[in-house]
Amino acid sequence: MVYRVGVVGVGPVGDRIFRVLKERNFPVEGAPVFMATRERMEVLADEEVLVREVSEELFEGLDVVFFAGREGAKGASVQWGSVATEAGAWAIDNGSDFRMTEGYSLIVPEVNMDAVSVENKHICSPNCSTIQMVVSIAPIHRAVGIKRVVVSTYQATSGWGQAAMEEFEVQVGQYAAGEQVQWDPGIFDKPIVFDCLPRIDRFLDTGYTKEEMKMVDETRKIMSAPGMPITATAVRVPVVIGHSESINLELEAPLSREEALEILRDPKQSPGVTVVDDPENLQYPTQADCVLEAYKDDVLVGRVREDASVENGLNLWCVSDNLRKGAATNTVQIAQELIERGLL
Ligand SMILES: NC(=O)c1ccc[n+]([C@@H]2O[C@H](COP(=O)([O-])OP(=O)(O)OC[C@H]3O[C@@H](n4cnc5c(N)ncnc54)[C@H](OP(=O)(O)O)[C@@H]3O)[C@@H](O)[C@H]2O)c1
Repeated sequence: MVYRVGVVGVGPVGDRIFRVLKERNFPVEGAPVFMATRERMEVLADEEVLVREVSEELFEGLDVVFFAGREGAKGASVQWGSVATEAGAWAIDNGSDFRMTEGYSLIVPEVNMDAVSVENKHICSPNCSTIQMVVSIAPIHRAVGIKRVVVSTYQATSGWGQAAMEEFEVQVGQYAAGEQVQWDPGIFDKPIVFDCLPRIDRFLDTGYTKEEMKMVDETRKIMSAPGMPITATAVRVPVVIGHSESINLELEAPLSREEALEILRDPKQSPGVTVVDDPENLQYPTQADCVLEAYKDDVLVGRVREDASVENGLNLWCVSDNLRKGAATNTVQIAQELIERGLL
């Protein structure tokens, strides 16, 4: 069986979707139909492809459409998501527009694939930071129960999109040449080179940012834990690819470092997790590690330790490639699971 595939949006996430489809030998009929705001040739996943200007007739006959466009009223999935599903395709959406909307499933295959419903073929993939956090903590929640989560993120520039990656690289060159560093305030508030910016997405009235509340709300939805106390601080750091997170958990029952590592090292209990945790040999995961060939689709977990400052406390550090497991890989895995379950 082969499937007709569409990809809407050809930024870094669209590029990784094509790359992951090829790497996983996803059964695509012919070439995927690539769509964006205007027609042109583009190099995606090291291949020159035709990108078409998105239009209704391009969705006809497609079985699955990956959305990697921008968000909001003029964004790809708001404008074209229902066109895809009405044409009979599954829409698998990297954007945030429908994640918290009643009736839309929000899926991380390692955690809640059963939440997919044939009633609504528009499936949402969570925020990149949420994905790696739930892959890391859901096994611990299943084992002993989580009472409260405190998370701080260290997020790469690529999380903003192609323009932010490019701006950071230009700033590195300007800094090295001793020139005045330039920046576009439409991307980050200040130069990102050699600085950490504790604002991702817009500020809300509460003082939190929208990115921080995505982590709270999406985690509760995915883990079916509507009342779970979660607090987040999201920080942009001068890294091109890969997000890290420091996660502090308060658990329902005691869990030693050794017991936590046993759970996290067991692929049946902790699918998608790779433990890199060996303090004696100075082994812990970093953003540079998560893009390595051996780790590129994994959520790396390390620095696991008991937190004696609260009852049943546990600390951990997780790292993942935000463009792959944080976006593209998660959506391709969803499509693979749909095939596995006979839904696609
Ligand atoms: N980057 C990450 O780490 C990450 C992680 C999780 C989720 N996401 C989400 O994934 C999506 C894509 O991210 P990205 O970083 O690849 O973004 P990006 O670099 O801004 O690229 C967006 C792409 O979408 C196209 N597009 C925008 N509006 C469109 C519309 N109305 N119809 C059709 N195409 C449209 C653009 O077309 P043109 O090229 O023609 O302008 C462009 O190719 C975003 O929703 C983002 O929030 C990103």
